[in-house]
Amino acid sequence: MGRAFVYVIVGGGVAAGYAAHEFVKRGVSHGELCIISEESVAPYERPALSKGYLLPEDPARLPSFHCCVGSNEEKLTPKYYKEHGIELILNTQVKSADVRRNTLQTATGETISYKILIVATGARPLKLEEFGVSGSDAANVCYLRDMVDAERLVNVMQSSSGGNAIVIGGGYIGMECAASLAINKLNVTMVFPEAHCMARLFTTKIASYYEEFYKSRGVKFIKGTVLTSFDFNTDGKVTAVNLRDGSKLPADMVVIGIGIRPNTSLFEGQLTLEKGGIKVNGSMQSSNSSIYAVGDVAAFPVKIFGETRRLEHVDCARKSARHAVAAIMEPEKTGEFDYLPFFYSRVFTLSWQFYGDNIGEVFHFGDFSGKTFGAYWIHNGHLVGSFLEGGTKEQYEAIAHATKLKPAIEDVTELERQGLGFALSM
Ligand code: FDA
Ligand code: NAD
Repeated sequence: MGRAFVYVIVGGGVAAGYAAHEFVKRGVSHGELCIISEESVAPYERPALSKGYLLPEDPARLPSFHCCVGSNEEKLTPKYYKEHGIELILNTQVKSADVRRNTLQTATGETISYKILIVATGARPLKLEEFGVSGSDAANVCYLRDMVDAERLVNVMQSSSGGNAIVIGGGYIGMECAASLAINKLNVTMVFPEAHCMARLFTTKIASYYEEFYKSRGVKFIKGTVLTSFDFNTDGKVTAVNLRDGSKLPADMVVIGIGIRPNTSLFEGQLTLEKGGIKVNGSMQSSNSSIYAVGDVAAFPVKIFGETRRLEHVDCARKSARHAVAAIMEPEKTGEFDYLPFFYSRVFTLSWQFYGDNIGEVFHFGDFSGKTFGAYWIHNGHLVGSFLEGGTKEQYEAIAHATKLKPAIEDVTELERQGLGFALSM
């Protein structure tokens, strides 16, 4: 039993949705394209799951956040795929790939063949068990990657109303979930091993602003330690969290956000991997010329840094997917992917954007006791990264533009004095 397509996308997340949209814009014919996803719903904007989806009032629910509403474009509901002759094969996991035969095997026993394959399998959350702690399967321990996780998190949160929520991890999931849990009136404690939150990106000064803001909303922080075990009741529910520093925290629920691993296993030993992902060139094409990789799973040449990186953010998923489709359908008109890394988050009433790279020396600017402040990263005499909290659309565009230009900075005192004005004047 089998089906054949010209184009197959494996994975049905953000990158798959944007790739489908780009295929349609470029004139894919009916019956040429299929998307295979183990999820039960059409591609959606994953960022909604840790924000709007968790709100106590008027929470976001599908179909409101199907791709491509995140970039203010049309919403691709299941009807859209049908109308454009795109086969959406949902609830179907791809179990193996044979890149020499151009085939995929699904868990339902079907063989699907392709001329061109786009790998958009994203990533999976790291489990506590990978750090030697057991208990991930307990009914009140939550991870957050997909819709099933989000529904479960909402149910656990509602049944823990007014209770203690422990958030393990001080990265994106930790910060966004802690805010959502606090908005839902749980008593939230964040636990992470680093000296401050968002250690991969924030400076001590930015983190301190965020932690103070969180504390003002009732969130507590336990830093520099990790979870070593759980206490369980006779139903197998977690009742407390034990930390390496010896403390015990009573828990009605636990949310875990301790990083991800790209879903590369289908292609290990078949495609070249790098930085934990599938290595691709500036056309998002892998070591096999019939296979492209996009989104979280792709390690691509980031021109502005002059090196191959994997980026785990939605803007990159959207743009890398569009670029791959352009390179597939109009190769002669499509240059190398020239991407400026862009990360953002929104929590409580705060919101920030970051462009570029956070290496080198940092110079802060603006009013850290007010609402708008930021930082520039200078490396080898050039501006390479910009962060802004509480900016306007024009201000965010200005820091993006300035970072893209990578200007030489001769006088850092002047840069600090000008602050945001520097980017606005470029
Ligand atoms: P994505 O994970 O979206 O999709 C992968 C798809 O492949 C899934 O549908 C999965 O089920 C499927 N799949 C995997 N293996 C398969 C197999 N073998 N067979 C079939 N299907 C398979 N970023 C940002 O910049 N700002 C933000 O605010 C947020 N917020 C945010 C919140 C939450 C809760 C998460 C989990 C993530 C974010 N992100 C984010 C990150 C962003 O969502 C992420 O970078 C993109 O979703 C990546 O898109 P992909 O399509 O690569 O993977
Ligand atoms: P992350 O990499 O942002 O953070 C991981 C955190 O895990 C670290 O900051 C650290 O505090 C913690 N940690 C590591 N080892 C630990 C241990 N042994 N015990 C306790 N804590 C430990 O990853 P995440 O927060 O899990 O996010 C998952 C993915 O979702 C990432 O790809 C992220 O980019 C994406 N995401 C992005 C956004 C956004 O861009 N706004 C929002 C949500 C999720």
